[in-house]
Amino acid sequence: SWGCEHLIDRILIPADVLQRRIAELGAQISRDYAGKDLVLVCVLKGGVMFLTDLMRHITVPHEIDFMAITSYGIGARQSTGVVRILMDLQTNIEGRHVLIVEDIVDSGRTLDHILRLLWTRNPATLRVCALLDKRARREIQVPLDYVGFEIPNVFVFGYGLDLDEKFRNIPFIAVLKADALEE
Ligand code: PRP
Ligand code: MN
Ligand code: MG
Repeated sequence: SWGCEHLIDRILIPADVLQRRIAELGAQISRDYAGKDLVLVCVLKGGVMFLTDLMRHITVPHEIDFMAITSYGIGARQSTGVVRILMDLQTNIEGRHVLIVEDIVDSGRTLDHILRLLWTRNPATLRVCALLDKRARREIQVPLDYVGFEIPNVFVFGYGLDLDEKFRNIPFIAVLKADALEE
């Protein structure tokens, strides 16, 4: 029990399905980055569950680093469109192979902002691994190199994605009940 059962309409992606797909992504990334100097850049906070599970399936030596960025005000359920950097990388990514790890791409504004910023630092390559792609909501086109799942335009939470900053810990992706969204 997670204390959010009353808020769940349905489970969109069960934990075992998530884990199987993440293992596949990890294997694919391991093949693609064999012999390369890989840095995984996790976008906090939402990307943290995905990063920790994904990296367990990446069999090439790699570093991790974190960036905190937000496009949603606290408690907001729609993007404000204003992207803010709350914490920058500690790693110098110049000449290195950088893979951004995100939980979800919605409007694309967060990722667009990160890509523009990180390209100015001259990485050897800069690619994106997103667990969820909510393509119907895209406002800015962003290149996604690895995608776990395409999802419909519904409010989802769990597995790193928050509902008013909570329930990031649940091991599956849930759809919020319609009446909870109106509250
Ligand atoms: C969420 C999500 C992505 C971003 C996607 O983060 O984790 O980073 O929004 O939305 P976009 O494509 O419309 O920019 P949020 O800003 O809620 O911060 P969080 O990860 O700390 O929850
Ligand atoms: Mn995020
Ligand atoms: Mg959020």
